[in-house]
Amino acid sequence: MNEPLVKAEVHGRVALLTLNRPKALNALNNELIAELYALLKKYDADNEIGCIVLTGNEKAFAAGADIGAMKDWNYHDVSSQDYLGGQWEELRRFRKPIIAAVAGYALGGGCELAMLCDFIIAADSARFGQPEIKLGVIPGFGGTQRLPRAVGKAKAMDLILTARMMNAEEAERSGLVSRVVPADKLLEEALDAATVISSMSLPSVLMAKECVNRAFESSLEEGLLFERRNFHGLFATDDQKEGMRAFVEKRKPEFKHR
Ligand code: HXC
Repeated sequence: MNEPLVKAEVHGRVALLTLNRPKALNALNNELIAELYALLKKYDADNEIGCIVLTGNEKAFAAGADIGAMKDWNYHDVSSQDYLGGQWEELRRFRKPIIAAVAGYALGGGCELAMLCDFIIAADSARFGQPEIKLGVIPGFGGTQRLPRAVGKAKAMDLILTARMMNAEEAERSGLVSRVVPADKLLEEALDAATVISSMSLPSVLMAKECVNRAFESSLEEGLLFERRNFHGLFATDDQKEGMRAFVEKRKPEFKHR
């Protein structure tokens, strides 16, 4: 039997997904994305899972879209299959939080896949970049849109136009990653963060993610109203009662995730 292109393990309420094309530095092709999509769909729908961690290996999170697969395509080939649409595009619609745990290269589509996650924890070995311009193309999986939102226009233009890579320290300084940790602690830190998230009340986790994402897709006025209405809605949950009662009674909450 062929090795899966994405391996899955469950740790408590956390699903750990590992990109598994090490010989090609986890280059992304349609088959890998289909496997990733199927696993995310499964765990997103699983009430026993509260958070997902997506990682690669120590050399690469992913070195981009598979150049070998793309090299002979013409305009008709990419446009007729709506390359980077379909399941690629749908990856951003999952509701459970997804943490990218990045070591080594996160380039091109790999950087874009990491940015599509809810936040990035980087190993000190991580290298981020959008080198597509060296191949005569441009980022096509969100790089020209998400990178400027994450790091600002100046740095995004610099990275996309020069194709230079940025190290973990620069990535943290510019807001692309939430924290940098020693490479040998990466998985432990990411799983710890995911375990904390998955111990929270699931309805509030889902709403927090939706509200933060709304900040990038609406006016402040609309975003504030969206936040306030969702905040009101959480008072209909058992977990709000439990969370607030537990605080008053000076004990740990026991969330039912509903
Ligand atoms: C296919 C890739 C690949 C990729 C690496 N490999 N990146 N195969 N697509 N994107 C393969 C190599 O061909 C090689 O296979 C093996 O992985 C190891 O890579 P090396 O180059 O030998 O390793 P190294 O010398 O350490 O250099 C690492 C690297 C370099 C700096 C990351 O591999 C590199 O520049 N890769 C391409 C990065 C890139 O341009 N990404 C953007 C892709 S376009 P063999 O068989 O020779 O051992 C893109 C479009 C975005 O992402 C839009 C859609 C997602």
